[in-house]
Amino acid sequence: MKRKIYLDNNATTPIDPVVLDAMMPYFKEKFGNAASRNHPFGWEAEEAVEKARKTIAKSLNCRAREIVFTSGATESINLAIKGYCERNSEKGKHIITQVIEHKAVLDTCKEMENRGWEVTYLSVNKEGLIDLDNLKETIRDDTVLITIMHANNEIGVMNDIFSIGEICLERDICFLSDAAQSFGKLPIDLEAMHIDMLAVSGHKIYGPKGIGFLYVRQRNPKVELKLQIEGGGHERGMRSGTLPVPLIVGLGEASRLCFENMDAESKRLRSMRDKLVATLTDELPDTIINGSMEQRLPHNVNFSFPHVEGEALLMKLESIACSSGSACTSATLQPSYVMKALGHSEELAHSSIRIAFGRMNKEDDTEIAAKEIIDAVMTLREKSPFHRTAKSQPA
Ligand SMILES: Cc1ncc(COP(=O)(O)O)c(C=O)c1O
Repeated sequence: MKRKIYLDNNATTPIDPVVLDAMMPYFKEKFGNAASRNHPFGWEAEEAVEKARKTIAKSLNCRAREIVFTSGATESINLAIKGYCERNSEKGKHIITQVIEHKAVLDTCKEMENRGWEVTYLSVNKEGLIDLDNLKETIRDDTVLITIMHANNEIGVMNDIFSIGEICLERDICFLSDAAQSFGKLPIDLEAMHIDMLAVSGHKIYGPKGIGFLYVRQRNPKVELKLQIEGGGHERGMRSGTLPVPLIVGLGEASRLCFENMDAESKRLRSMRDKLVATLTDELPDTIINGSMEQRLPHNVNFSFPHVEGEALLMKLESIACSSGSACTSATLQPSYVMKALGHSEELAHSSIRIAFGRMNKEDDTEIAAKEIIDAVMTLREKSPFHRTAKSQPA
């Protein structure tokens, strides 16, 4: 059997063995409850949790007490949007977001609409980016929250978070950014970027699944949330429930590795990605790259191959694991809403595939992937009546 090459690192990443090693003792002999204040088992667990919290805080230029551990970005986003809006409803009931956010944001915004809030969904241009003047014009006196992701999970485009943060600061509006795809891959300075809340998942950075955090600003200004889970008052009352110590240790270690190796890792993955882009665009002339190539995560690319159906292409790629659309929408055969937001036709929206390189990829993976994609696209195009018609049209 051929070696399977994993190129779906936007969906999830394999756990780094160093991370797993760091976690193991906390599944075994160091099993204490971090809330047990009366004995060394509890102290040891609490110490490990606080170490992870400090590591994460250092990487973001914030204080450790501003990190609230959750089960992942989805929960963090729910806590941030529902918690902030419900706690601050006297300030107004208008939220601004964009059409290509992850479903975790879009569906939570829909729920806020059910609860009486109004939401404006900003459109994006064909590069996948919002217009900042449009954002400014959309702000109203009753706008309380702006939620714009740092990097998109499907097309990898990166928003101008600095400018959005400045706009929020000027207008005194709370700024939430979903950094599930960017944390550990791009530098983030919460002070410089004027971010008030930031949502992250551990399994996108070679850490374990089921753990993440929400950064909640505690000064200049202090962000107040209505808690969403009642219970023992863990996480300074913001998220009750016994802390999953091994997962938190894993998240801390995964963050440390990402931040220590960020430059080298970005450079390596960018070069693999760029080589793939160059080969495919050379060999397959109609190849379309979805989203801005300049403002994009270094390890991601999203292609459309006209006259080739994305799902059919994936079935043909025997040694490559990648996805058409995001993992969360690929269970349904709806064309990706992100592709449609870029202005693509239904047919082109169905023809996209997302490739994301990761830490475990080897140098020759690019070559193997390129060859297999080229062969598969050519074979499928030969069978496509649309492609044959297009070829026979006079220029
Ligand atoms: C941009 C973005 N936001 C939020 C999430 C949700 O993360 P999780 O499923 O880990 O809660 C994801 C996961 O795919 C994502 O890519």
